[in-house]
Amino acid sequence: MVGAMRIAILTAGGDCPGLNAAIRAVARSAIDRGDEAIGIRRGYRGLAERDYVPLDLSAVSEIVSLGGTILSTSSYEPVREGTVDLIAANIAADRFDAVVAIGGEHTMWINRELHERAGLPLIGVPKTIDNDVVGTDYTLGLDTAAQIVSAAIDRLRTTAESHDRVIVIEVMGRNTGWIAIHGGIAGGADGIVIPEFETTCKQIAAVITRRHRRGKDFSIIVVAEGAKLCFENGQGHPVQNGGATDEYGYPRLGGIGAALAAELETLTGYEARTVVLGHLQRAGSPTARDRVLATRFGAAAYDLAARNEFGRMVALHGDEITSIPLAETAGVKTVDLDLLEIARRFFG
Ligand code: F6P
Repeated sequence: MVGAMRIAILTAGGDCPGLNAAIRAVARSAIDRGDEAIGIRRGYRGLAERDYVPLDLSAVSEIVSLGGTILSTSSYEPVREGTVDLIAANIAADRFDAVVAIGGEHTMWINRELHERAGLPLIGVPKTIDNDVVGTDYTLGLDTAAQIVSAAIDRLRTTAESHDRVIVIEVMGRNTGWIAIHGGIAGGADGIVIPEFETTCKQIAAVITRRHRRGKDFSIIVVAEGAKLCFENGQGHPVQNGGATDEYGYPRLGGIGAALAAELETLTGYEARTVVLGHLQRAGSPTARDRVLATRFGAAAYDLAARNEFGRMVALHGDEITSIPLAETAGVKTVDLDLLEIARRFFG
């Protein structure tokens, strides 16, 4: 590359803790090497609308601990909006040498399309509390979400115990159970229900009854919003929040916790309540682990750009930061069932 590189950065899809640390790492790496970092506002929408902000030293100052994203985000899809050519023209007109797009599995699909269809210089950084991106052991955001779930369990245990209640905690994660399994194991949940494994309400009721028989008059059950639960009336779930969808027709999950609590009350005879942790799981400051991961991912994304290595996603393999072709990120990474097997040893 001749002269200073202009590296653009965007965040797309749902926010999560650690995005700002990643933005800062890309920008500070660029500034450190004499390059220029530019922020694109509201995900790919900002690329289509040429909505940019300079990411100089002051713009990325004091943000390592900040939740959310200073660039704002959106679920704008260039392919569905028919703006791939417009985006290609804007990248050329604004002389962006690289675009670092920080997002989840859907964002990696968009990156792949933009790179393969239009040859655009995309680099992906995997983020999402769901941890469902293929090709990386961890995404940034999971650790903070799991920490929030485990802290909630610690608190709810005291009130569940005082009232001899079953408390069902509904957590996010879309079609995978990473948040449920990590948060649930860390918090010592008495039952964890994840989408990767079909579970009947009767099985969960049996766990609770077993606990009661050994003198534990309360239980904490963690259920992932996308869990595949079989109810006594033969109905299956996931529950889809009254059929709600987002702007592109993707289902909005939610409601399984209340359905499970009602069923458990009937099956066990014990009072059951529901707590939906919802967006609290994505809110606020990232953990130290997420800040470090975000910083390593951001620095690695800059290094790829500096080497003109496009069409790749940075990834964590073991404790090593590496990168893989975007073409290898298709699909959804599900929970390793060995983890569920370990969690099960503590049920009942
Ligand atoms: O993908 C992250 C996530 O928080 C999922 O766990 C959840 O299903 C979804 O986003 C919620 O999306 P929204 O914030 O658009 O309601």
